[in-house]
Amino acid sequence: MKLSSLVCVLFWILSLGFSPLCSSRVHERAPAGDKDVIIQMFEWNWDSIAAECTSFIGPAGYGFVQASPAQEHITGDQWWTDYQPVSYILTSKRGDRAQYQNMINTCRAAGVGVIADTIWNHMSGLDSGVGVAGSSFTHYNYPGIYDNSSFHHCGLEPDDTIVNYDNRLEVQTCQLDGLADLATDTEPIRERLAAYANDLISLGVSGLRLDAAKHMAATDVANMTSRLVGTPYVTQEVIWGAGEPIQPSEYIGIGDVMEFRYTTALLNSFLGSNGANISGLQDLDDQGWVPGDLANVFVADHDTERNQGSLNANSPSNTYLLAHIFSLAHPFGTPTVLSSYVGFTDSDLGAPNGNSGTCSENGGSDGWICQHRWTAIVGMVGFRNEVGAASMTNWVSASSQQIAFGRGSAGFVAINNADSTWTTTFETSMPEGSYCDVVSGSSVAGICSGYSFTVSSDGTSNVVVPARTAIAIHTGAQGSGGTSVSTVAVSFQETATTTFGENIFLVGSVPQLGSWDTTQAIGLSPTNYPTWTVTVGLPAGTTFEYKFIRKETDGSVVWESDPNRSDTTPSSGTQTVVTTWR
Ligand SMILES: *[C@@H]1O[C@H](CO)[C@@H](O)[C@H](O)[C@H]1NC(C)=O
Ligand SMILES: *[C@@H]1O[C@H](CO)[C@@H](O)[C@H](O)[C@H]1NC(C)=O
Ligand SMILES: *[C@@H]1O[C@H](CO)[C@@H](O)[C@H](O)[C@H]1NC(C)=O
Ligand SMILES: *[C@@H]1O[C@H](CO)[C@@H](O)[C@H](O)[C@H]1NC(C)=O
Repeated sequence: MKLSSLVCVLFWILSLGFSPLCSSRVHERAPAGDKDVIIQMFEWNWDSIAAECTSFIGPAGYGFVQASPAQEHITGDQWWTDYQPVSYILTSKRGDRAQYQNMINTCRAAGVGVIADTIWNHMSGLDSGVGVAGSSFTHYNYPGIYDNSSFHHCGLEPDDTIVNYDNRLEVQTCQLDGLADLATDTEPIRERLAAYANDLISLGVSGLRLDAAKHMAATDVANMTSRLVGTPYVTQEVIWGAGEPIQPSEYIGIGDVMEFRYTTALLNSFLGSNGANISGLQDLDDQGWVPGDLANVFVADHDTERNQGSLNANSPSNTYLLAHIFSLAHPFGTPTVLSSYVGFTDSDLGAPNGNSGTCSENGGSDGWICQHRWTAIVGMVGFRNEVGAASMTNWVSASSQQIAFGRGSAGFVAINNADSTWTTTFETSMPEGSYCDVVSGSSVAGICSGYSFTVSSDGTSNVVVPARTAIAIHTGAQGSGGTSVSTVAVSFQETATTTFGENIFLVGSVPQLGSWDTTQAIGLSPTNYPTWTVTVGLPAGTTFEYKFIRKETDGSVVWESDPNRSDTTPSSGTQTVVTTWR
């Protein structure tokens, strides 16, 4: 046994079964069958993350939470104040050092590692001010920490602000949005930033996200990470841009790289825009991106959620959820799930509820969306943990927006991103048995709260995949026996005049319609404005209640007037429901 392995075993015993220091990457630390899914707990304060680790995140099988920046930042309610640091005091609007330490300890005890979001590239952009912990500063002078010589003064553009992304030197030595750019090519800065990261590591963080890594030369970043104690997981924000000289691949020797091209591909493929479709997502290692075992992938992060660079919770026709199901089922990359709050269409809006995250059973509350609690996302985390490193098998695509694939003999997923039902006999590599669809429910002690599907001895399964939904089964979630519940495709055609930025959604009493949770409502498309349409697969012969809602640009919701609408689906076939906003 190597000394390092012995140290790992000791850590394992001392840290209640969780070792943050034994490997450099999530995928190395989390071999087949282990937990690798990260939740970005955007803007959640430390006390609320700690409570959520214990009550939900640990038991649900997530591997890591990525917490917002911990260091002192400028004052203000906007979320982006967190990305303008003013000192290395661990006091932010989300809590102080003792609360941060308590969060790490509590999450680790629940089997969840904490990834710290760190800012090495810059300090604040303000001419002067006082930070949230009371530290005074001016643009290039942080008393006791940095002076004017600590910063790049690139001299390439007016105000030294980055304009030209085709110029490597400009991107890495001028100022991103006017933020004072640290001279990471000099020793005092390298020493200071490594000391900051090692302070976080001494508190027990398992990994680091390096914000704006693209704006630092890869050699500078590598020099600083070489000084880290232990080998924490590292993921780097290197946003690929067409034709730019700085490439994400320059950073893969350091750690994982956030692969924004994956995010863009999911956006285009699930919306069917720019000629893309989901049948093109089979082999992601041949796209020219960073290799899958070095890619940190995400349907959305906090920036793309706001800048139209990805799908988000307001995307039409269930595409946001389907993309998550895809991301957690596909073997490519280490996935991060963003957990965010309502109102992101106002791109400055800070977190609700005083940054104290709160959720309901399977969704959000008090302005929080709690994507990490959505039934299908939790179900797919279980799927991913169960299938581990099993390779993709049995890929099939019935049309450009209908795909299915297995993960060896451990799991199978079918994603129907079309407006019609997909009925077929799938060939799987799974053993004979009854399995619970973890998209519609969960399996507890052999009782499945969702649909159950049967795989025959020859590995085939007769399945109906309703429009704009998915089914996923794995060997860790037993079904309740029987065959698939039959579903019917119901087309909703709602006439509603809207103002610019307003969108129409459908929410109702059945899980397929979000169980009255407006953040999980189904988006309609203005296919023939003012008529908005969507087709949803619903259980046959079932009576349910529903309403249409308007989502405003600020995230607020306007309901149709009472009473609730009601519908009963037929026992087979299809149904069309024509309504007008009231
Ligand atoms: C900071 O340094 C730059 C580059 O050496 C110099 O041009 C500038 O005048 C200095 N600013 C202050 C406030 O000393
Ligand atoms: C890191 O940079 C310092 C100078 O800032 C240099 O002395 C040291 O050798 C470098 N370390 C590595 C591992 O490159
Ligand atoms: C679907 O995407 C693939 C791969 O990107 C492309 O070759 C094909 O033409 C697309 N099909 C449709 C119908 O758009
Ligand atoms: C509509 O359904 C919701 C959820 O069950 C319920 O709270 C509400 O009272 C219903 N509205 C009417 C007018 O019945």
